[in-house]
Amino acid sequence: MATTVLSLSGLDPTSSEPIYRQLYWRFREAIHKGLLKPGDRVPAARALAKELGLARGTIDSAYSLLTSQGYLQSRGQAGTRVAYGICDTASAPLATAQPLALQQQTIRQPSPLLPFQMGVPALDAFPRKIWAQISARCVRATHSQDLANPSAYGLQALRAAIATYLQVSRGISCSPAQVFITAGYRETLSLIAHAVLTPADRVLIEDPGYPPTRRLLEGLHITPVPIPVDQDGLCVARALEAGHHARAAVVTPAHQSPLGVSLSLPRRLALLEWAREQQAWIVEDDYDGEYRYVSRPLPALKSLDRDGRVLYSGTFSKVLFPAMRLAYVVAPEALVERFEQTCEAFQSGCPELSQAIVATFMAEGHFARHIQRMRKLYSERRTMAVNGLKSVLGEQIQIDANPGGMHLILRLRPPQSDRVMVQRMRKTGLFAEALSEWQQQGEPASGLLLGFANIDSLATAQALARRILALM
Ligand SMILES: Cc1ncc(COP(=O)(O)O)c(C=O)c1O
Repeated sequence: MATTVLSLSGLDPTSSEPIYRQLYWRFREAIHKGLLKPGDRVPAARALAKELGLARGTIDSAYSLLTSQGYLQSRGQAGTRVAYGICDTASAPLATAQPLALQQQTIRQPSPLLPFQMGVPALDAFPRKIWAQISARCVRATHSQDLANPSAYGLQALRAAIATYLQVSRGISCSPAQVFITAGYRETLSLIAHAVLTPADRVLIEDPGYPPTRRLLEGLHITPVPIPVDQDGLCVARALEAGHHARAAVVTPAHQSPLGVSLSLPRRLALLEWAREQQAWIVEDDYDGEYRYVSRPLPALKSLDRDGRVLYSGTFSKVLFPAMRLAYVVAPEALVERFEQTCEAFQSGCPELSQAIVATFMAEGHFARHIQRMRKLYSERRTMAVNGLKSVLGEQIQIDANPGGMHLILRLRPPQSDRVMVQRMRKTGLFAEALSEWQQQGEPASGLLLGFANIDSLATAQALARRILALM
């Protein structure tokens, strides 16, 4: 509706400009800025008059002026709409000049998806038809009480579906009451921080590690303590040395982010023992544990947690799509009440319709099938991406043999700098992240992090590799 994009509150009855002309300028401005696009329907004159507390004739006068100048077209039953082919670039005097930053904000588009984009699943392979059918069914099944505020803990049906899925697929035994729905990993981590941490606490994090973890903790005045990672995952012995007064550790045991290695069993057990002794918490960020290509996915660290020290964080961003903005945390039983209180204080709840769609998708078996299909597809795409990159870049690079995940690490030969390469790639429309940017201490490794989930053929991989070669 046009009123949502028009600022109409500031009409000034004391101005020498009549109200209908002020309204006329508002519409013109909205059309010029692209807030109202060709074909958009403007509100019916009667409804707008009522909404603004104006006489119907005032709206009619504004609309007729806009129509006479070709901005609007009356289409009878189909209402009055913004005309096509408006080409009036002569800068009209705008009724209210907005600050530049605000204007830019209004027109800022989401950044386009670039080749090698990280963290984005194969969008071409998402079962959109089934999704659309389920969505339509969920909309039809909406009752009036569903339009009230959502639960701050999450939709019961989704919490139950997640508990079942975790039991079957990730070896985690939990009740639906332990599952709390959030809008993503960051919200999960801040929920955890508000529930069990206090400012000035020290928290062990992986180095290299997912940058948002460090940033979020720092933002909450919690001190992240970087612990190195090797081929067996977090160096737990180093964590034990540093971890005497740490309140928690945040780890990615299935595929360490970004190195892709798995936390070995002895280290898992040692970490759990540390948490038990120190009465500390372990946050298990299992962001893509489902995607392992060399064997069955490893059970989650949480499945070994006998003392209730692990808070398990899952997300739908990789297994469905990131725009879904749904994730969850499994709290140990002893913390359920505290999480409920923290949710009441800090969470507004996630859209229930989205949650209902995901819950139905899971309950009807589409979720498990989708993950199986994606596991196979990503394994193929990974091989194609590796072969394509190696065949063109040959000696210039080395690719880590990770057992899973959705990105590759392309090691660069010295003196190539990953940061310089990333800058060059971004300028030519290729995505990459510099491994060294993810590292805080020690000799930084030079490598490119490249998402491969959307590389759909060997030829595509080779063509992209040639573009990288040209930048080296
Ligand atoms: C290490 C790591 N954790 C968590 C997430 C999930 O974040 P979100 O749920 O906000 O999409 C990602 C996504 O890229 C990730 O790479």
